[in-house]
Amino acid sequence: MDRFEIEGGVPLRGEVTVSGAKNAVLPILAATLLADGPCTIEGVPDLKDLDTMLRILRELGVEAERAADGTVTTEVRDLSCVRAPYELVKTMRASICVLGPLLARRKCAQVSFPGGCVIGPRPIDLHVAGLQALGATLSLEGGYILADGSRMRGAEVYLGGAYGPTVTGTANVLMAATLVPGTTVIEHAACEPEVADLARFLVAMGAKIEGIGGPRLVVTGVERLLGVRWRVIPDRIEAGTFLTAAAITHGDVTVRGADPSHLSAAIATLARMGVSVERLPERALRVRALDAILPTDLVTLPHPGFPTDLQAQFMAVLCVAHGNSFVTEKIYPERFIHVAELQRMGARIRKEGPTAIVQGVDHLSGAPVMASDLRASAALVVAGLAARGVTTVDRVYHIDRGYERIETRLEALGARIRRVSGVHEPIEAA
Ligand code: EPZ
Repeated sequence: MDRFEIEGGVPLRGEVTVSGAKNAVLPILAATLLADGPCTIEGVPDLKDLDTMLRILRELGVEAERAADGTVTTEVRDLSCVRAPYELVKTMRASICVLGPLLARRKCAQVSFPGGCVIGPRPIDLHVAGLQALGATLSLEGGYILADGSRMRGAEVYLGGAYGPTVTGTANVLMAATLVPGTTVIEHAACEPEVADLARFLVAMGAKIEGIGGPRLVVTGVERLLGVRWRVIPDRIEAGTFLTAAAITHGDVTVRGADPSHLSAAIATLARMGVSVERLPERALRVRALDAILPTDLVTLPHPGFPTDLQAQFMAVLCVAHGNSFVTEKIYPERFIHVAELQRMGARIRKEGPTAIVQGVDHLSGAPVMASDLRASAALVVAGLAARGVTTVDRVYHIDRGYERIETRLEALGARIRRVSGVHEPIEAA
């Protein structure tokens, strides 16, 4: 297993370029199941989750290759395969995104039911209800969702849940609706930029979708979709993570290739924290933290609210703010596994239900900590960059799921970070 060793305290300086958005590429790759003819997707980062999606596509009769420059080509060769196996789905919940396209194009799907997750309960009831509203029948057998889409029709689908709309649920229903006869109206659709990118990709393939980027999507079914070339949007969460790394180290970093319109909540929050984020021409953001970090309150919400996927990294920065901050998680009320690890580094955080009260300290201290999910691990790296002494972050395979070579990119900004490979981990006590 790999670990990072970080010697904190170096202000980051220089430029970093953002990769393509993992959470946009995943449903877009699933959508290539709908295409007649080859698809070419550009800007695909080299990440474990994307490898998993390519493996699932191959299981489903798709020829799928990734070139070294990040271009993925796919072509459906065999429409008879409909099973997304447990061995692959269990490693990545976003595998559920193949359900909608399989139902729409192959009228049948067998997708392993996604398991539990360390960030809290992640049900798929809204995906199921949405596809049922379109006329699909779904049942659970032997841990697999068995679905029949032979009688699907356009319908009105409401996708709001207790924690807001569902991102991958919207993707699933949207993809299914593109090829079913009639008009589908998706109410309370997720407005995340990744959903809009998927919708635009589908339109490029020939789909008819109105209301892209908003909470009401109107889809008129078409008979076929064609393969196209597409470049995915930049990863706003990766960009936001670099912004926090620059802020916590009091650095001066230009983040290139980010779309500021996707980052409004993060930029506004940094401004409240006394961190300057300047919008430069050609999609670049210059972040500078010259003065003390100020405390602020933040609440995660569906887009365009503050993203849950940046909550942990911002909390790391607030740990060294001059005062108290309240961080409330409204999407995944249990997504606070980073708290205990930040506490090991000297952070003062008290949890009260879905809120963490962060009392800023003068400095964090380097410590051995353990990555437990993608964004929590990113937060530990951010904290380690500013901590006094050495931080070792174990189990960095979590971070490798969503950040391509993060250590080399941080190193290029001056960070003292290195990957140590093949670390032996003792078996934990129960
Ligand atoms: C997507 O997950 C992202 N994953 C997540 O990113 C992100 O945290 C999340 O959206 C919220 O923005 C991908 O895009 C691949 P949801 P998704 O369905 O679609 C509840 C990362 O770090 N809900 O929008 O699975 C759910 O429990 C990852 O990159 C239901 O109740 O999230 C949550 O409270 C982690 N029923 C809320 O809705 C359902 O059927 C939002 O979940 C579905 C969801």
